[in-house]
Parts: sequence; C-alpha cells; structure tokens
Amino acid sequence: MANDFTWGVATSAYQVEGGRFKDGKVNSIWDTFSDTGRLPESGDVACDHYHRYLEDIALMSDLGVDAYRMSIAWTRVVDNSGQANPAGLAFYDGVIDALIAAGITPWVTLYHWDLPQGLEDAGGWPDRSTVDAFASYSNIVSNHFGNRVKHWITINEPWVAAMLGYREGVFAPGRTSMADALAASHHLLLAHGRAVATIRANVPDAQVGIALDCRPSQPASANQADAEANRHFDGFRNRWFFDPVFGLGYPQDMLDAYASAEYLSSLHPDWLKDGDLETIATTIDFLGLNYYTSLVIGAGSEEAEEGAVRPGPNPPAGYTEMGWAIKPDAFRQYLGHLNATYSPRSIVITENGASFGDAPGPDGQVRDLRRQQYLESHLAAVDHAIGEGVPVDGYFLWSFLDNLEWTSGFAQRFGIVHVDHTTQARTPKGSFHWYRRRIGRRSRSIDRQVPD
Ligand code: FCB
Repeated sequence: MANDFTWGVATSAYQVEGGRFKDGKVNSIWDTFSDTGRLPESGDVACDHYHRYLEDIALMSDLGVDAYRMSIAWTRVVDNSGQANPAGLAFYDGVIDALIAAGITPWVTLYHWDLPQGLEDAGGWPDRSTVDAFASYSNIVSNHFGNRVKHWITINEPWVAAMLGYREGVFAPGRTSMADALAASHHLLLAHGRAVATIRANVPDAQVGIALDCRPSQPASANQADAEANRHFDGFRNRWFFDPVFGLGYPQDMLDAYASAEYLSSLHPDWLKDGDLETIATTIDFLGLNYYTSLVIGAGSEEAEEGAVRPGPNPPAGYTEMGWAIKPDAFRQYLGHLNATYSPRSIVITENGASFGDAPGPDGQVRDLRRQQYLESHLAAVDHAIGEGVPVDGYFLWSFLDNLEWTSGFAQRFGIVHVDHTTQARTPKGSFHWYRRRIGRRSRSIDRQVPD
C-alpha cells in the first residue's frame, strides 16, 4: 500500500454509543425495535462510548490509525420537529475535536440505519418525504462540522436498510413488503445523491462517498439455470445499487423482474421521477465498500430473489462465527470487477472484519488468531487488487470495539478491542497488536521521508 493509504477502524453510533436519554436525543427505529423486544440486548448503554469516548480515542491513538469511521446519530442532532439540537451537536463536537487533537481524521457516516422513529411513523424510507428530511439533516450536520470534517459517507449499506428492514422485517423497522423495500432502496439512493450535493455546497473541500455492501456470488455450476439464478441474485443484491450510483440506471433485467412480480407497479406507480437517476449518479469522490463474504448461488430456492445458497466449486477457508464463509479471493476478484465495470475514482474499504468470540485468558490476553488470519488474508487480497491496478486508497477494519451486533446483540464479537459488557472494561486483543504492527510498518516509512 502507498504511503498515503488510509488505515482506520470503524464503528456506528447505535452499536457503541449508548447515552440513549442524553442531550434530548429522540427515539430511532432501533430504540423502538429494542423496546418492543426484538433485540436480545438494547443499545441504551451499548459500549457506553458516550461516556468513554476519550478512553476509546486514546486506545485508537495507541493503535496508530490515521482515521476513525464513526456515524452520527440523526436522532441526537435533530429534534422531532426537524430543528438542530445544540446539545447533541455538542456531543459530537467533543468527539471530533478529541480525534483531531489525537491526529486521527474523522470519517463521518450520516446514516447507519438509525432512522428517527417520527419519520418512520410518517412513512419511513418508502415515503419520498424522508429524502427531504435527510437532506435537511445533512445540511445541518455538514454546516456544523464541515470546518473540521472533510470525509463524509452518506448512507451505509442501503441493501440492508431496505431489504432487511422493509422486506424481511428482521431489522428495524421490521416491515415485510417487497414493494416498500424497493421504494425504500430508491429513496435511500436518492437521499445519498441529495446529500452529496448538500455536503459539497457546505464543505467545498469535502471528500464524499457512499458505503455499499456487497455479496459477490458465483453460480453453483455451469448449467444455465444456476447461471440465471446467480445473475438474478447479483442484480437483487449488488447491481441494483452499484449500477445507479455509477450512472448506469437500474438494471433492466431487475426492472423487468420486479415489474412482472408487480412489486413496482402495484404500490408505487410513481416511484421513479424525472431527474432521480441523475441525482443518484452525482459523482462521488470514493466508493466505500463493505466486504465480509461471498456466496455460491444455484437455482431452485424458495427465495426467488436470492436463489439457493449452495456449497460451491471453491470451498471457503472456514467460517466466522456469523456463519459467513471466509473468501478473500472473492474479495480480490470483486474489487477487480468493480474497477472494470464502474471505474470508480477511488475505492475505500469502509468495512471488513470477522466475528470470533475469543475472551481474555487467565493471563488477561485475548488470543484471537483466527481474526488476525482473516484480516491478513483480506489485506493481502487488497494488496493484490492494488497490484492489478484497482485504486484502493484506504481500509477501515470492522470493528474497533466488540459492540452491539444488531439482532445478534453482544453475542457476535467483531472488535479488535474486547469489551466486557458488564464492566465496560476494554482489553486490546492480539489482533489489535497485530494491526498496530501492520500500520506501524508503513508509518515508519513515512517518518523517514525528508520533508520538502
Ligand atoms: C455490516 C454493518 C455493520 C456491522 C457489520 C458486521 O453490515 O454495516 O454495522 O453490523 O455488518
């Protein structure tokens, strides 16, 4: 990796902050999800980062990262009437100022799934008015922090927010309509495009991107039915988002499939307005890519949109505790595919990491060798892709802390810092020390450079 490669760690507000009742924060759809018994543990306290951010930033400084990807909770900085909440903004002033003082560049995500409940009650992401509310929130936040925050990520993983939240109902807000999910996906992308323009207007030297999740896939066999199932899955899971962001519009095969299933026509006849695709395709400075695993898809699933997941020709190098196959080669190949298909100016890995539950041993050390191996193999894939000409300019490890892994609660641990969820004690794991060495190798080479 080049000397100006950005090394970072990532978290999100609901997963680490807690402080639910501080600053006049209003409820998000995840607070409601928790209040209605849909989470094994609530995020009311989470990692108590709200009170412990100075300790956490000191640890990051010890780690030696260049950058920290954090998200702002919309519900902390904007009240239920859409006005700025000064107390909430002041909390993030504290975090951002402490990061900058520690020499760590804040990369701020505006939306990591915590929609204000008031907006969900008014229709949520399937309703176009939520796009206007997001644009207004983006304006407040980029105006306030733009003098210090230059790196912005609009929306995190629109597929998850739309499909798990509105179609499968397993994530907040827990609705189960494919038509709603498709409308939500469009409005999330539109909100992204609107926010890019808003941020640029407020922060002329901003670097703005979106964090898209991906599930690269390959067909289970060479037969045509498997190939078709795989292409459909790729359209549903990946192309539906990447294509419009990069100016190709929605993929025609998916528009046809969704129209014939009457998802688009029955409930939302007017979902795609003139100019929307241009807004979504507003040029971005970097593509944020979240990669964890890839799938093998065969025909004959009950889930028409997803195809059946099968064991494939290339067996994984094991599984993480999320049950996700470990496939670093697919990561390298997908980076090459994205570069060839969309020619992004720059790609930043905004998330990559693994869940393994290793706990402190009798000597207090956490030996999470499997995480280290996962990270090593995926960084090697990034290195390889760079060698093949893919412009990858940064890597944010998910996650800095063991945190609240949504509906898995505290059971899934992605952190390189172990968190005891009873005492809140932080213990850097073996992977933390390994990552510090990995980053340090390159920092030392920078230090040796003679300034002009
Ligand atoms: C991603 C999310 C992130 C975390 C990781 C494991 O989908 O963006 O918040 O849950 O998965």
